[in-house]
Amino acid sequence: MRNSWKWWLLLLFASIGLAGWAVSQQVGREPLVYDDEQKGLQNQIIIYFSHVVAENTPKGLAAQKFAELVEQKTDGRVKVEVFPNGSLYSDGEELDALLRGDVQMIAPSFSKVTELVPEWQVLDLPFLFRDEDDVCRVFTGEIGAELLEMLEAKKIKGLALWSNGFKQMMSTTRPLIAPDDFRGLRFRIMPSEVIEKQFRLLGGEPVAVSFDHVYRALEQHEFDGQENTISNIYSKSFYKFQPYITISNHGYLGYAVMMNQAFWDHLPKDIQQKITEAMAEATQWNLQESKAQNERELQQLKRREDVFLYRLSEEEKRKWEQKFAPLYEEFAKRFGARLLDEIRESEK
Ligand code: LMR
Repeated sequence: MRNSWKWWLLLLFASIGLAGWAVSQQVGREPLVYDDEQKGLQNQIIIYFSHVVAENTPKGLAAQKFAELVEQKTDGRVKVEVFPNGSLYSDGEELDALLRGDVQMIAPSFSKVTELVPEWQVLDLPFLFRDEDDVCRVFTGEIGAELLEMLEAKKIKGLALWSNGFKQMMSTTRPLIAPDDFRGLRFRIMPSEVIEKQFRLLGGEPVAVSFDHVYRALEQHEFDGQENTISNIYSKSFYKFQPYITISNHGYLGYAVMMNQAFWDHLPKDIQQKITEAMAEATQWNLQESKAQNERELQQLKRREDVFLYRLSEEEKRKWEQKFAPLYEEFAKRFGARLLDEIRESEK
């Protein structure tokens, strides 16, 4: 009886020792069961791409297109996860999130970049571009490349300039046609010195509000007017509160597509190459699609009985331009006329 007790104890220690040895043999090894697919996923590079507009907008669609192209071109080695509608970061937060490396890609509007690189104010100047051809030449040519290079000093890899479209004016109670119509009204604007001055020159009171707060602010009647593109007005239903829309094409809403510089620098060279190719294709697609989408949605708005559209005549536009002239003088005084001249030259 006494002996069998000892045997049991011996057996228990032997089993514990054997189990410990078996575990130690597995430490630092691959799991016993794995397949190639799992191994591939472990090496996959994930890029979070955050933006603030709806999925079905020029930026939202271009971001999706870029994600598809990257996945195709890298055979799934890189996955771009797109977060629309400010679901990850609002437009007031996304730039800091990119600089911290909490998100790898964003595409803020030019206005929001001016806080970081003031020379970008040139792109906010009203009536800078006559048509989409001008936009395309500047965005994809040497001037676009020069603007993107300015981001490097801020630890940002500038990948491309994307377009949304020309901005239009809208208001709550009456159409905005003559400069005097703006007097005393309160306007929602994006944060931008040039846009702020643009509304002050018209006698309005501009207030910067982040995009994700606009709908609520309009619902609560905080503003008499604002400027935005047809695609943003349509996708966010802003026309429900501000049904008087003046087709003025007075300014341009475009985006700086950016990546965190340190993240970019750590990508393998072949992946950088594929991302560059995917971005070039997505940009061409965006330039065509954005124009078509704004035109399509303008037709949709025309069909609505609760929306009142007015197209500015050339004569009326000239009156606005005269009001805005000081903005050009001020820009040239502050930053020199070179960038402005180059843009004008490219438009000839
Ligand atoms: C806005 O704030 O109105 C726009 O910049 C939003 C956007 O990204 O199109």
